[in-house]
Amino acid sequence: MKCKITNEEIKPFMSFGKMPPANGFLEKKDFKNETFYDMEVGFSEKISLFQLNKFSNPKIIHSVNYPFYTASSEYMKTHFKKYADWVQKEYLKSHSKLIEVGSNDGTFLKNFTKTNIDYLGFEPSKTVANQATKNNVKTINAFFNDTNIQNLKKFHNKTDVICAANVIAHIPDLKNLIHTIEKLLSLKGVFIFEEPYLGSMFSKTSYDQIYDEHIFMFSITSVKKIFDLFDFELIDVLWQKTHGGSMRYVVGRKNKHKINDRVHEEIIKEKNRKLDDIISCLEFKKNCEISKTKAMKSLKKIKNDGKKICGYAATAKSTTVLNYCNLNTDTIDFICDSTKEKIGKFSPGAHIPIVPVSHFHKNLPDVAYLFAWNHKDEIFSKEKEFLKKGGSWFSHVSLQK
Ligand code: TYD
Repeated sequence: MKCKITNEEIKPFMSFGKMPPANGFLEKKDFKNETFYDMEVGFSEKISLFQLNKFSNPKIIHSVNYPFYTASSEYMKTHFKKYADWVQKEYLKSHSKLIEVGSNDGTFLKNFTKTNIDYLGFEPSKTVANQATKNNVKTINAFFNDTNIQNLKKFHNKTDVICAANVIAHIPDLKNLIHTIEKLLSLKGVFIFEEPYLGSMFSKTSYDQIYDEHIFMFSITSVKKIFDLFDFELIDVLWQKTHGGSMRYVVGRKNKHKINDRVHEEIIKEKNRKLDDIISCLEFKKNCEISKTKAMKSLKKIKNDGKKICGYAATAKSTTVLNYCNLNTDTIDFICDSTKEKIGKFSPGAHIPIVPVSHFHKNLPDVAYLFAWNHKDEIFSKEKEFLKKGGSWFSHVSLQK
């Protein structure tokens, strides 16, 4: 495989086996046409970048029915309100210009609709973009790239902030992204983005963050090295609790900002953890294999004890767990989820039926595999009855506080 930024040859250090597209929830009639790819990961030693070998074409994934809505989590709505308040306080003035890349259903930008900020969202998936428009959030239903910004002259060299959350890891052509940003940002403008953090994935062995849409798993070191290749530099970083541990990165044009001391301090911490070195990847690989064996063994024992197991939340992440650990309806009876586009379909590869959450309430299992472990606080507080009635939660990621 080749590094998607430097083009250097990389040898994949791990394969998770054959995987279908993570959000490829499908009907029974489509089982025979389901596609799989070998989910291999590699690490660029030059820019310390953890990346997938093969990935799905974003044009296909985001064609029409992308089944992910940010507003499906109350916690995320609160997070995006705080994120918006922070951006406003730190980087925006009353009539500033703001663009969001991958604005989804408008959860983040909704916080600016009653201000004088000149904002705009780019969202390629039609269904979620329509939802944003319904929410009165100004949205362009297109990919954010240099072609699609050509007519937005008033934003060229005048945009104060370009924001993104859980989107940049989905963009294979980061060079085009950076060139597009370069055309839009004002001299002192900033690009701010949040992504699941490599360091958190390694410490939790949350390998399910890896799937066809997550082409990159960033660390602070890798982000610094990527932007150093262009006319930009990393000026601040802030750890976030979302998605089991994420990092917010702030990037500006070179020599136009003071670099926060945190950037240097965190880079030293990453060096000590060897996050800039393939050694940490090899350790992660070993931990994934241990996690797989342990999960399969525990679930087998639960089944052998005559208990019923279901899945809770048909996340994209669950596709990686189910297919890597060879789980199907022999072990997991159904997965409940709140997303209307997923209900009535089957999980990719494992073909487990997706049912509404009401089905879970009416058919409580003995054990529920919490596939949305990153939303555990929100889900646990909604589902207290499950524990009261003798149920228990399961996950390959620790569910302790
Ligand atoms: P998330 O972890 O954001 O998913 P992904 O791995 O796809 O990025 O979780 C979103 C999914 O979880 C979505 O399918 C809706 C579902 N969900 C519920 O069904 N109930 C809930 O209470 C929450 C928070 C999520």
